[in-house]
Amino acid sequence: MTSDSAEKQILQRLSTEQDLYKETLHALGNPSVCDVLDVFVNVEVTAELIIEKFPIIRPRYYSVSSCPLTYANEIHLTVALQQHFTSGKVNGVKTTAKNGKHSYGLCSGWFRKMKAEDVVPLSIKRCEGFHLPSESFAPIILIGNGAGIAPFRGFFQLQQTKASLKEKANRLTLFYGCRHPSIDYVYENELRALLQSGVLESVHVAFSQTENGRKRYVQKELREHSLTVYTKMIEQRGHVYICGGTNMARGVITTLLDIIQIHGCTTLANAEAMLQILKDEDRYHEDIFGVAR
Ligand SMILES: Cc1cc2nc3c(=O)[nH]c(=O)nc-3n(C[C@H](O)[C@H](O)[C@H](O)COP(=O)(O)OP(=O)(O)OC[C@H]3O[C@@H](n4cnc5c(N)ncnc54)[C@H](O)[C@@H]3O)c2cc1C
Ligand SMILES: NC(=O)c1ccc[n+]([C@@H]2O[C@H](COP(=O)([O-])OP(=O)(O)OC[C@H]3O[C@@H](n4cnc5c(N)ncnc54)[C@H](OP(=O)(O)O)[C@@H]3O)[C@@H](O)[C@H]2O)c1
Repeated sequence: MTSDSAEKQILQRLSTEQDLYKETLHALGNPSVCDVLDVFVNVEVTAELIIEKFPIIRPRYYSVSSCPLTYANEIHLTVALQQHFTSGKVNGVKTTAKNGKHSYGLCSGWFRKMKAEDVVPLSIKRCEGFHLPSESFAPIILIGNGAGIAPFRGFFQLQQTKASLKEKANRLTLFYGCRHPSIDYVYENELRALLQSGVLESVHVAFSQTENGRKRYVQKELREHSLTVYTKMIEQRGHVYICGGTNMARGVITTLLDIIQIHGCTTLANAEAMLQILKDEDRYHEDIFGVAR
């Protein structure tokens, strides 16, 4: 497939020597097919071969960020734009992860340049177990980071609609982590209005990239309001919802276990058993972005 004998030699070695293949892949910074063709400039491939070799594009999951009662004919999404740089050699020039070829995630990048008339192929899947409870008296603790606020926005709209119909609505407390007020605190105004209207009882936000260089994650907010969290979650038999990245979710679970130990004056084993009771009673709900269902 290449007219160049040096390229042919390297490609033959890469196809038979596993270690060399892995090293090269690493050195090129996980190149895409297009990046590889940029490196081996004399390779000629047919469109049929490329299509045959490409994996089928798998669907991406997005948590619906609106309430069907409030927006009957619309679906809102909250999407974090994924970006990366491919290091290696591009057009013969050596690059690093910092100045390499810039790319967007396939689906979030597509959303970015989408036009109003574009058609999105999609299917809707119910996320079993991630809905507000039917009983309106239970306090609700919502915990999330980044685009993890997506499903909570649907909850806020539902509560708002209930309030406008004079129906009783749960008391919601939000713990949220994002980078900076001007980078990704996109729902600041909506949250302020929800606080004012009483839909939200309180909002605790942690910023991880502030001017003073102080990194705060949502776990820190939970710790600083640990008695409130314990009272609502355990004593008042509330519901806990966690949404966002896997690392955040792991950190939050550890924090919740610490909070139960401190305020329940108990051991880690007992705290784990208490969290398990929450799960068994359908009072603990997760929507984690790393795990496709
Ligand atoms: C249940 C569930 C709910 C979700 N809900 C949401 C939501 O509400 N909002 C939201 O924003 N996301 C959500 N996600 C994540 C979402 O599904 C996508 O995974 C995310 O948007 C990335 O998709 P993409 O096509 O843009 O990126 P992809 O193209 O799939 O890329 C994934 C990552 O790999 C990097 N990458 C790709 N190619 C290379 C390369 N050659 N070298 C180096 N890095 C590379 C990309 O930069 C990116 O970081 C959810 C996921 C799940 C499982
Ligand atoms: N939304 C954006 O503006 C943006 C910008 C750039 C890239 N992206 C990409 O889009 C994807 C999803 O973005 P996202 O903003 O939804 O989520 P995210 O990247 O997971 O970050 C959201 C917030 O969570 C913080 N965080 C990181 N690790 C954490 C942990 N272990 N525990 C608690 N909090 C943690 C982040 O802080 P840190 O400052 O430490 O990251 C940030 O403040 C990521 O892959 C990201 O690379 C998004």
